[in-house]
Amino acid sequence: MIFADPPYFLSNNGITCHSGKMVSVNKGSWDETKMSIEEKIKYNRKWIKASKKVLKDEGTIFISGTLHNIFVVGVALELEGFSIINNITWQKKNPPPHLARKAFTHSTETIIWTKKIDFKKYKFNYDLMKTINGGKQMKDVWTFSLTKKNEKKYGKHPTQKPIELLERIILASTNESDLILDPFNGSGTTGIAATKLNRRYIGIDIDKSYLDITVRRYKALKGLE
Ligand SMILES: C[S@@+](CC[C@H](N)C(=O)[O-])C[C@H]1O[C@@H](n2cnc3c(N)ncnc32)[C@H](O)[C@@H]1O
Repeated sequence: MIFADPPYFLSNNGITCHSGKMVSVNKGSWDETKMSIEEKIKYNRKWIKASKKVLKDEGTIFISGTLHNIFVVGVALELEGFSIINNITWQKKNPPPHLARKAFTHSTETIIWTKKIDFKKYKFNYDLMKTINGGKQMKDVWTFSLTKKNEKKYGKHPTQKPIELLERIILASTNESDLILDPFNGSGTTGIAATKLNRRYIGIDIDKSYLDITVRRYKALKGLE
């Protein structure tokens, strides 16, 4: 299974609210908005194509994004020979307020779940999801809080995902010992959730300081500090 949380291309010098304070929306140079729509499609097609090469035929990809990039990602997936299984909505229990008051409060992120179009069989732990959901079919709207403070104590990453979100994804689509790849590792949330659930993990990131956070989180999890 591959989980990818690629750049959103939302860093446009705007402002947002974080812990009650007004802060810049900018995430880092990796998230700048200079690309044209064609370049954004090209960028996403490139990593999706590379991912397809290493993904087993029964494997699936989960891609997380916001309104800034998720539609482009959907186009890129179809152009690279993927079909969409689900459009999962992460509903945030505690979203920050919309400071400009010019739109509804942004309180969701989308996670596209996708498979190779030419292969019918793919791994889905349907029964486990139903059990976790109290015996009822699991729906495609998942409610989780924003990433908790104690998950950020090994270093700050601007777009760190909650561990419980990754645990749900991993439990749904893999079994113990399966190999998981995250080509946009960030602070390593996917790897931490994978390790907790006895899966193997490979993470890639362009920024070494984020890999250093990942190593610190891993050592803490394993009691190696
Ligand atoms: C949205 S963040 C991922 C956050 C991650 N899911 C977490 O929970 O911490 C995207 C990450 O992709 C990395 N990145 C951007 N461009 C990249 C590239 N071309 N190759 C590898 N990593 C890249 C950034 O450094 C950033 O850490």
